[in-house]
Amino acid sequence: MVKSILVKSLLTLSLACLLPLAHSEDTLSQGVEKLSPEIRKLLQKEMVAIETAMKEIVFYNASGNTEKISQVAKQIKESFILKQSLTSEQKHQLHTLLPSDFIQQDKQFHYYAGMLQHVAAKQKPELISFYYGKLFEACSSCHQAYAKHKFPNFNHSKIQEDHEH
Ligand code: HEC
Repeated sequence: MVKSILVKSLLTLSLACLLPLAHSEDTLSQGVEKLSPEIRKLLQKEMVAIETAMKEIVFYNASGNTEKISQVAKQIKESFILKQSLTSEQKHQLHTLLPSDFIQQDKQFHYYAGMLQHVAAKQKPELISFYYGKLFEACSSCHQAYAKHKFPNFNHSKIQEDHEH
């Protein structure tokens, strides 16, 4: 009895927290679409490079090549394209047009890539799995918030009622 009341109030509480979140995400996801076509092109190139890197890491892990994992993770950390090709004006645009939460998620993503680089260099298999998992989660987490236009499956997500195209 006590338990079910607790569960109920927890559910209500979490719903109350999620609803405004769902709402703000709808508006936030437009941030990316405001970027200039040049920056978006770079961002997309970067994403494709990251996707390839993630697949490579699966293979290097399966073949026990921790040195290669570390190298690839370092490339992700240092941003294949984005950081290296942006002018300072474009960097400014990125920081002013995108919500701070996006910047935060991006930072976190690169932090995990740095950790993966580090633990792979130290040859720690269980930590390699851990940080790979963190990168893996980061993809869908950021896409759900900012790339639904690209990945419409996230529109069917349980938390969100989204009536965008
Ligand atoms: C901090 C946010 C963020 C993270 C983390 C992130 N992405 Fe993305 N990704 C985006 C955004 C935003 C777009 C849409 C870009 C656009 O529409 O211009 C995108 C688009 C993509 C695309 C489509 C690119 C194209 O050709 O248009 C791929 C593939 C992709 N991401 C892969 C990944 C993978 C794999 C991961 C995780 C290992 C990941 N992304 C992590 C933000 C992120």
